Amino acid sequence: MIYFDHAATTPVRPEVVSVIQESLIEDFGNPSSTYALGRRTRQHIDQSRRIFAASIQANPADIIITSCGSESNNTAIIPTALALKEKGKHLITSAAEHHAVLHPMHYLETLGFEVTYLPVDDTGKVTLQSVKGAIREDTILVSLMYANNEVGSINPIAAIGAFLAEQNILFHTDAVQAYGSERIDVGQQHIDFLSVSAHKINGPKGIGFLYRKNNLHLPNFIHGGSQENDHRGGTENTPYIRGFAEAVTLMEAERKESNRKKRELGEYFLSGLEKSGIPFKCNGAYSEGVPHILNIWLPGMRSDKMLIQCDLKGIMLAAGSACTAGSLEPSHVLAAMYGMDNPRAAESLRISFGPDNTTDEADTLIALLKSIYNKQYKNV
Ligand SMILES: Cc1ncc(COP(=O)(O)O)c(C=O)c1O
Repeated sequence: MIYFDHAATTPVRPEVVSVIQESLIEDFGNPSSTYALGRRTRQHIDQSRRIFAASIQANPADIIITSCGSESNNTAIIPTALALKEKGKHLITSAAEHHAVLHPMHYLETLGFEVTYLPVDDTGKVTLQSVKGAIREDTILVSLMYANNEVGSINPIAAIGAFLAEQNILFHTDAVQAYGSERIDVGQQHIDFLSVSAHKINGPKGIGFLYRKNNLHLPNFIHGGSQENDHRGGTENTPYIRGFAEAVTLMEAERKESNRKKRELGEYFLSGLEKSGIPFKCNGAYSEGVPHILNIWLPGMRSDKMLIQCDLKGIMLAAGSACTAGSLEPSHVLAAMYGMDNPRAAESLRISFGPDNTTDEADTLIALLKSIYNKQYKNV
């Protein structure tokens, strides 16, 4: 088995599994209980929260632990829009966002909000200029992803954040794909909301956090108990919170080396593909994006067919985001980058690396693509 789909999800590290196992047994107390068992569990959660906060230079009180990246995005967008509707009903996002941002936006449209979907350039990025051109008197929130999950492009977050802060417009960024490789400083980058998910950084699925800047007293998404500083009801998932914190600690200690390995493998893959003689083009600018995501266009080679042939050989990769991979729909991100009618959107592969992938594995994938190309496409 060769796993080249780390943008979809990552394997849980053994160190993380150990922490979760230990916590499942030791931390069964309800963190809201006042006796010793509950208090100890609460301390573990507080310690994890400090780790999350330090990883983005934030205050621990501004971290809301959620069930996933999707919940973080929904929480940043929907209650914020509802709370500010007297001020304005205009929101801005981009056409290349993850569905966990696009769909809350579509939902808000059904409630009478207006959404501007900014275009992206052929590297998958929005420009500060286009943000400037789209803001209006009634713009209340801008949500733009930090790094794109299909092509890996990184948006100019700090520049956009600084501009929006001057305009007094709230700024959310979905940092789910960026968190593992990029150094984030929410203060310096003028970020008001930031979404993160554990399963993209070798933590468990079903846990994430939302950074929400302290002076924002906006309504909750989940109403219930007073957990998460009264921001999100629900008894905390202590084992996964601790496992997530362990994954963050490992990620921070290994980030530099892990980035180097992934980037080197990406470059190795690209030069191998060039030598193979298969016609291809990069979607986006690999060297400028996050190191784990490489997206290539193989003209004439349908991605759904490629995925099946790779799967038969035990190679796992994707054509777009995981959520659309199941239905094998053409990528909305590539359509936004290159146009709706461009065949690229249905003829591309996303190869996403982890630090343990090897050059041998890259060679195996290239050899497979070459044999498919030679047998089925070369002389067509
Ligand atoms: C950019 C981006 N945002 C949000 C999500 C959703 O995260 P989760 O699976 O934790 O809900 C993903 C996951 O694929 C993602 O890549």
